[in-house]
Amino acid sequence: MTTYGSFPGTRPRRLRTTPVMRRMVAETRLHPADFILPAFVREGVREPVPIAAMPGVVQHTRDTLKKAAAEAVEAGISGIMLFGVPEEENKDALGTAGTDPDGILQVALRDVRAEVGDELLVMSDLCLDEFTDHGHCGVLDDQGRVDNDATLERYAEMAQVQADAGAHVVGPSGMMDGQIGVVRDALDQIGREDVAILAYTAKYASAFYGPFREAVGSSLKGDRKTYQQDGANVRESMRELALDLEEGADMVMVKPAGPYLDILAKVAEASDVPVAAYQISGEYSMIEAAAEKGWIERDRAILETLTGIKRAGASNILTYWATEVARTLR
Ligand code: PBG
Repeated sequence: MTTYGSFPGTRPRRLRTTPVMRRMVAETRLHPADFILPAFVREGVREPVPIAAMPGVVQHTRDTLKKAAAEAVEAGISGIMLFGVPEEENKDALGTAGTDPDGILQVALRDVRAEVGDELLVMSDLCLDEFTDHGHCGVLDDQGRVDNDATLERYAEMAQVQADAGAHVVGPSGMMDGQIGVVRDALDQIGREDVAILAYTAKYASAFYGPFREAVGSSLKGDRKTYQQDGANVRESMRELALDLEEGADMVMVKPAGPYLDILAKVAEASDVPVAAYQISGEYSMIEAAAEKGWIERDRAILETLTGIKRAGASNILTYWATEVARTLR
């Protein structure tokens, strides 16, 4: 190619000239089917309760949750991941409400499943922290440490109860060793080979879970660093991935998303099952707060984070903006 003096002979800017040109050459496209909406349902409330640290997100009543699920179907997203918020008096050391067929999460699973049938994948957080009075993701031993194997027994029961209540997919999120194998066995034992497991494979002990604590009214003191991963580590996630696949995970997840895109990219490359990423509460609240102050353009910032997560290799994204974004994509 001829060049004139020091003018460039190659001009990548030609592919950025118009919106249609940019759209044509875009390597990453968001689609409503990419998204899963995490949603909170609170026991014993008549009106939805706003979550101050997550502007625009509420703790649903049973009724408004059904409405949110119907809107999710309308928007064309793929799933809804449910978190139960029990009444304070229903929390105990073992997280009994998490395995009570009449516990808030099971009630909500039945409600939502009745509302959406198979039009939306109904998913459940399979973890004890919402239901324990100490706020840990498992049960404690007599030294106050999270007891891995005793917790697995609770997860097995929880998986069965959630499947009975109508979950298409269960999401073990407690980072206990062996949790995927135990949950798979428990489901198979009751003839629920059809229920899929979305494994929280690489889940890091993150400051960005902050707003979630308010969202589920968690009573946790201290941290989760003896079971969630250290943000300094990469290899550890590849090991967790190998274990989860071996134990029968149908899908794997990386969480949080934004600060861990390198992990997501590596897991996506190595995984032979779909890889989800969870854009967590703090990632949501940061953008909402900055936008509220007029410091960033909210909608563009949201799409930029989601595009980044998909570009890094996510097959699906859990985000509190799922329904809203899917609507704008249609
Ligand atoms: C555990 C769980 C948590 C989140 C999802 N599942 C809390 C934690 O691990 O500390 C966090 C989600 C978010 O911050 O949006 N039940």
